[in-house]
Amino acid sequence: MEISIRNSVLLIWPLVLLGLLFSCKPDDDGEPGEPAPKSILCEVIPGSGTPHEFQKPYFFPEPSLPAYNPMTEEGIALGRKLFWDEQLSRNNALSCGSCHAPEHAFADNVAGSVGLYGDFTPRNSMALINLAWNNNFFWDGRVNTLEEQIASPIHDPIEMDMDWPTTVSRVKQDAEYPTMFAAAFGNDCVDTLRISYAIAQFMRTMVSANSQFDKAYYYGGLPLSPSEIRGQELFLAEGGDPNIYIGGQNGGDCFHCHGGAFVQFTDHQFHNNGLDSVFTDLGREGVTGIAYDRGLFKTPTLRNIALTAPYMHDGRFGTLHEVVEHYNSGGHLSQTLDPLMKFPNVGLGLSEQDVDDLVSFLETLTDTSFVNNTNFGKP
Ligand code: HEC
Ligand code: HEC
Repeated sequence: MEISIRNSVLLIWPLVLLGLLFSCKPDDDGEPGEPAPKSILCEVIPGSGTPHEFQKPYFFPEPSLPAYNPMTEEGIALGRKLFWDEQLSRNNALSCGSCHAPEHAFADNVAGSVGLYGDFTPRNSMALINLAWNNNFFWDGRVNTLEEQIASPIHDPIEMDMDWPTTVSRVKQDAEYPTMFAAAFGNDCVDTLRISYAIAQFMRTMVSANSQFDKAYYYGGLPLSPSEIRGQELFLAEGGDPNIYIGGQNGGDCFHCHGGAFVQFTDHQFHNNGLDSVFTDLGREGVTGIAYDRGLFKTPTLRNIALTAPYMHDGRFGTLHEVVEHYNSGGHLSQTLDPLMKFPNVGLGLSEQDVDDLVSFLETLTDTSFVNNTNFGKP
């Protein structure tokens, strides 16, 4: 009995050693879209940094701030520097901010973004707004945390084309980072997890809730113009002529997917809004493998929408007028067309004036204090 226990202990030891060896392996490179590898280099030192008081607009629900990555002033400052650092791309050409620029509400103004070697990304850059209230990222929602999301642009061969070991060694060699890591995380150890955590903390501070619309609707500011108010009503109204369709209100049907409660202007769900009848980009189906998800994309927020042209996942529409005309046309029929797109090939029947008013309303969602916030720009 005693011998057999000793034998099994002897047998287990090499396995334990082997396990330690593998767990001590430095950060490995990930494939595009893979989550940031779990940190095994830097210890977690609880209580490091100055806790950040998250400013939640009173009419927003509680954000989903992960307990494992508490926001600190120092962590946010570090994340901001990393976000704007071209060293995070292979040829030092692009930072995150190159495709997520403040003047475009942290998107850019081209259909596909220009990558570090001059190639174009297949999808349109997304505005970075109120991400603390999101839990699926990218047009197809393929990752669920901001922390994991960061590996994707860093590894993407068109976007930044970097591997983690090079990223970590560049950051370690920088003159300023070691002190900033120490201030944020308790010591100057650098690993992929800390890099991702800091950038995520910074992006969570990008809160927009002070547009002309918010001021009028929530803060008793100057009222919207008659055209903007008509646009707001059309946004909230059911589509369809009431003489033909039960419940029709001759409206735009927008609220179904873009949030009738006027908070985030998105339901955070995936829909096919009738852009195509045949799909070159499978959208959500590429993530789930489910045919019912073909051509479904994440509903984007409409906050700051006037700043983020061109529109849709592929940037096919250059103006908000074109977008509203698309909805007014009813969109293209396909097997996965959303039931809330109620009039495919028939149309909503909005007049020219209605379209103009809807666009005027969308333009009230621009938040100049957000895009000009000096806490977000290049440090
Ligand atoms: C070359 C341009 C480019 C660069 C550089 C870039 N992005 Fe992006 N970003 C995009 C594009 C394009 C998308 C949409 C991709 C998709 O859906 O497949 C996107 C999407 C995102 C999203 C998802 C937003 C949402 O609402 O789901 C976040 C967050 C983001 N990027 C953050 C970053 C960060 C952080 C960096 C730097 C580490 C970065 N990006 C670098 C172009 C870029
Ligand atoms: C069935 C749900 C649904 C309805 C109804 C709907 N949308 Fe959308 N909207 C979406 C989705 C999903 C996208 C992204 C689609 C894509 O890129 O493939 C989108 C994209 C947009 C965009 C482009 C956003 C960007 O960042 O590129 C605008 C603007 C917009 N919608 C406005 C409206 C307006 C105005 C209405 C009403 C007339 C409306 N939507 C009705 C789901 C909907």
